Amino acid sequence: MAYSEVEEVDGYVGNFKVKVRKKARYVREEDCNSCAECAEVCPVVVPDEFQMGLSSRKAVYLPFPQAVPASYIIDMEACLGTNPIACGKCEEACEKVCIDYDMKDEIFELEVGVVVVATGMDVYDPTELDEYCYTRYDNVITSMEFERLICAGGATEGHFVRPSDRDVPQRIAFIQCVGSRNNAGDKGNRYCSNICCMNTVKDTLLLRDHYPDCECTVFYVDIRAFGKGFEDLYMRSREEGVKYIRGLPGEIRQDPETKNLFLTAENTLTGEVREYEFDAVVLSVGVIPRRDSALVKKLLSLSTTGDGFYMEAHPKLKPVDTPTRGVYICGCSESPKDVKDSVTQASAAAARAMTILNAGHVTVEAITAAIDPALCTGCGLCAKVCPFNAVEVDKEKKTAWVVSAMCMGCGNCGATCNQGAVTMGHFTDDQYYAQIDALLDEDAADKVFTFACNWCSYAGADNAGISRIQYPASPRLVRTMCSARVTEDFVLYAFVKGAPVVLVSGCHFADCHYIDANRQTVKRVYRLWDKLEKLGIRPERLQLEWISAAEGQKFARVMRGLEEMRQQVTAEEVEHTKKVLAEEWEKKLAREAKRKKKAEADESRDEVQVS
Ligand code: FES
Repeated sequence: MAYSEVEEVDGYVGNFKVKVRKKARYVREEDCNSCAECAEVCPVVVPDEFQMGLSSRKAVYLPFPQAVPASYIIDMEACLGTNPIACGKCEEACEKVCIDYDMKDEIFELEVGVVVVATGMDVYDPTELDEYCYTRYDNVITSMEFERLICAGGATEGHFVRPSDRDVPQRIAFIQCVGSRNNAGDKGNRYCSNICCMNTVKDTLLLRDHYPDCECTVFYVDIRAFGKGFEDLYMRSREEGVKYIRGLPGEIRQDPETKNLFLTAENTLTGEVREYEFDAVVLSVGVIPRRDSALVKKLLSLSTTGDGFYMEAHPKLKPVDTPTRGVYICGCSESPKDVKDSVTQASAAAARAMTILNAGHVTVEAITAAIDPALCTGCGLCAKVCPFNAVEVDKEKKTAWVVSAMCMGCGNCGATCNQGAVTMGHFTDDQYYAQIDALLDEDAADKVFTFACNWCSYAGADNAGISRIQYPASPRLVRTMCSARVTEDFVLYAFVKGAPVVLVSGCHFADCHYIDANRQTVKRVYRLWDKLEKLGIRPERLQLEWISAAEGQKFARVMRGLEEMRQQVTAEEVEHTKKVLAEEWEKKLAREAKRKKKAEADESRDEVQVS
């Protein structure tokens, strides 16, 4: 469905309902044969977005030469009006009577089993980098603009001319890593955009092919030619006479008369600082996530990495899955990549999608949440914290339930429900209390009690073990699917049982495997710190740490630190904590018993009414 936008996605794997807006073209696509007669008579001229504004288009136009369907579109914001007195020339010119000024957007409701997100990327806008004067000097262009100039179907039909005087430049500079790999300062991005080095190598070869006399110079940080055949291409570019200078220019100056550009740069291999003169400069701009990626993220409950690209369910084992079951990602929506990698990943995403469609059913792990309607008050807190929107609430009937196919079993709802109505399959509250009992029944004062999330900290502990990294023997680990499963009561109970130090640990903040569930972990730990302080218990005895699966060293380091802390906790302190919290605990148990009794009474009353 071309020229369309997804507006809403509801439902879950196997049962997605997708609302798509097919935008009005004002030209009937089934009749249009792209004869272009409408565009010829259209009097409106606006910059052509596809050609990066380097040429113009009409108000009725073909979005780009290879567009499918090959049907014209009227840009209603530029069009002079549908009133024949105002214009109406395209309607007169169209022999096939395709123009329909009254066409309306159409809404389609689709039912689909799986969703593949292949929304691509945008390119970095270098306007903010003052040193490169992109908006000040005409002859400083971006690699995307260069592409539209050197391309046979581009603004100048493949003739590379410099914008100031339309002369063919003889000396061309390429500046790499514009907007990428910027670890200092607040401009640009920290990550490598992956494709820019090879794109520049290709561009220099194109230039040498089109204009054998031209001189190309590439200013770079380092050339990343790691793909199949890439090193050969890079060497070919050097053999063809392209100069590579290691070091990025600090500034660009322009001669007001000739419009030539002067770059000052240090060659970091020789230490030489000098000024270079060029006719044109190409900024090799990096890749950024699509500007509307936050919208798609919200529609599909996706998560993103710190740099804004969509996050996979697991970087090695599930590289095209997302945390939302039945939604797959590929291409530059996941990270910057070239065409070959995008095609490979797209094939993988399609194959993953087919495994679900072909099976015809979905197997759900038995760790999902279940809500006891007798205890549920329909407050909706669980629905609010569910990262997958798997909980549905009926406010009138004061109850909630979990859609198992959407639930991923993080346990965030279980830790949030203060009615005790949520049970997590295989990770029930009773099981946790039994584990705390078992680990702290004997010599509690010698233990560092640790809650570790399955995907990161627990795996980090494993990593420390299999790497034979030495750490103290005091840690006792309890596994949770996500750190968000750790309720405030679990932590308090560990203190009641005499734990000198308790650690809650999980994936790094933006890397939670359940979208952003560990934000709730932080909130809970902050609440606990406040509570402990009010009760006269040192809050530092409760620690929060983010440890990834690869951070065995960090796990060991954290454990060494906690062991030191454990040794400083006195027996009196532990006794005081036990005493203060035991009272709190008794009150909590009494509240729970009362609640259960009431729920049972309500249930038996309902049964009597039914019978
Ligand atoms: Fe590790 Fe959420 S999965 S903190």
